[in-house]
Amino acid sequence: MNLERVEDVLAKYEHNESQIISILQEVQVLHNYLPEEVLKYVAERLNLPLARVYSIATFYKTFSLEPRGKHLIRVCLGTACHVRGGPRILETAERILGIKADETTPDYKFTLESVNCLGCCALGPVMVVDDEYYGKLPPANVKKILRQYGYSNSNKEEKDD
Ligand code: FES
Repeated sequence: MNLERVEDVLAKYEHNESQIISILQEVQVLHNYLPEEVLKYVAERLNLPLARVYSIATFYKTFSLEPRGKHLIRVCLGTACHVRGGPRILETAERILGIKADETTPDYKFTLESVNCLGCCALGPVMVVDDEYYGKLPPANVKKILRQYGYSNSNKEEKDD
C-alpha cells in the first residue's frame, strides 16, 4: 500500500475536504480500487468521519472497494443499446471471460460491468474498454477486441473458435 503517493494526492488538493471526490478519483488510480486502509488514511488526514468517506465511495459507481482488473470493460444496457443488442454483447463478454457482470477475472486482467448509458446512444450497441469506445458492435467482434487487451484462452477454459 503506497500511502506516500496518497499523501501526494492529498497535498495536491491542499487537504481540502470539499475536494474529496477528486481526491478519491486520483487515489483510486494508484491501486485500481480503494482499499480500506487508504479510505481510513484519507478520512484521518481530512479530518472526516470514516463513515462519510465510505458513503461517498459506495455512492458513486465510479469507485470500487474491491480490487479490479487491469482493464475495465463496460457494456451499455441503456434503452438505445438494449434494443440494438446490448444484452448479447454482455452475454458474449461474460461467456468469453467466464465471469458475470460486476465481476473480475481471477487473474485480475479484466473487470466487466454493465452500465445504463454512455452518452453515445447513436452508436449502440456500445462496449468501452478502459477509455476506448467500440460502437455498432457485433457480438462476433467482442473476442477480437478483448484479445487486443491481452485476453487469451488461458483466462478460462473456453474453447476458441
Ligand atoms: S443507451 Fe447506450 S450509449 Fe446511451
